Amino acid sequence: MSNSHTNTLENSQNSSPLTITIRQPDDWHIHLRDGNALTTTVAHAAQSFNRVICMPNLVPPVKTAADAITYRQRIEQALMQTNIDAQRKTQFNPRMTLYFTDNTSAADIKQAAESGIVQAVKLYPAGATTNSADGVTDLKHCTAALDAMQQYELPLLVHSEVTRADVDIFDREKQFIENNLQQIVHDYPELKIVVEHITTGDAADFVLAQKDNVAATITPQHLLFNRNHLLVGGIKPHFYCLPILKKATHQARLLEVATSGNPKFFLGTDSAPHATHAKENACGCAGCYSAAHALPLYATAFDGIGKIDKLEDFCSRFGAEFYGLPLNDTTITLVKTDMTVPATYAYIDDSTLTPLLAGDTLPWSIQ
Ligand code: NCD
Ligand code: ZN
Repeated sequence: MSNSHTNTLENSQNSSPLTITIRQPDDWHIHLRDGNALTTTVAHAAQSFNRVICMPNLVPPVKTAADAITYRQRIEQALMQTNIDAQRKTQFNPRMTLYFTDNTSAADIKQAAESGIVQAVKLYPAGATTNSADGVTDLKHCTAALDAMQQYELPLLVHSEVTRADVDIFDREKQFIENNLQQIVHDYPELKIVVEHITTGDAADFVLAQKDNVAATITPQHLLFNRNHLLVGGIKPHFYCLPILKKATHQARLLEVATSGNPKFFLGTDSAPHATHAKENACGCAGCYSAAHALPLYATAFDGIGKIDKLEDFCSRFGAEFYGLPLNDTTITLVKTDMTVPATYAYIDDSTLTPLLAGDTLPWSIQ
């Protein structure tokens, strides 16, 4: 496809639906998992995105450049086995992350930076979310690695939540920013930092107050929903993700910054597959699965407040520029025509995977 019609809105005749052609997006935060899960997740991701930043919270985690190289090979193998078209296969480019542990060394960072395939290092506070048991217990263990990351210009991606039992789940993001992130930004002023999947106005304000080296990803669920969607009228496990959905006032602030044209805010779906039975469970897993229909979800959120013209830069420019990568030169067309989100997809071990808004109708679809 040509590159000359990016971000054009077309509605030539009243009878034809609105279409928008944008530069091909990248997903700067995705969970593809491993093994047979890749058959499902890679096919979905590759249909919409060129570069994807693959989160390292496997069991065991991706801790070294060598782990990242073999994980990337498994993703590439799965890609070759999908039946998506040849052009999408060549465009799809998984970018890897290391999982920050108390033992991540300066040498690990140097190797990762020199590997050419590791894009960043992901910090999970131990116990904060899915597969974070091996995460960082105290930032005091991280100084050598953080120094090296600043030196080798390897960005830090942060799951920004404290894990202390006495802190309310709805306050955990704000507390991490105040207690930990402020300090990291102060101590490593040149380190590139992405505050992942921000969920509060406090996080948005924090990011806005920093220099250009601090940015944030925003998920479709945090733009479209708030905690009422999760809890009113019965618990809806498919809206449960971490950090948890917050009040409507926070949702509104996230929509405001995402559609503001500020390059600090860009697309990261946090698409996080868990089998249906693991979500619809007395102790349900955290994560929303959105890889296949993330673009219609984002288009719905942006168009819902009359800001569809801001979609392209959020999806396809600001993240690449933050990471210092070239912009994609292919395009994708979204059309304002209803799509029904599938009820389930086939998933590992004869299970199913229930996507975000399963069975519902979205006003936007991929052409
Ligand atoms: C993610 C997962 O399932 O891996 N879950 C989630 O709720 N977002 C982990 C994460 O990004 O926190
Ligand atoms: Zn995630």
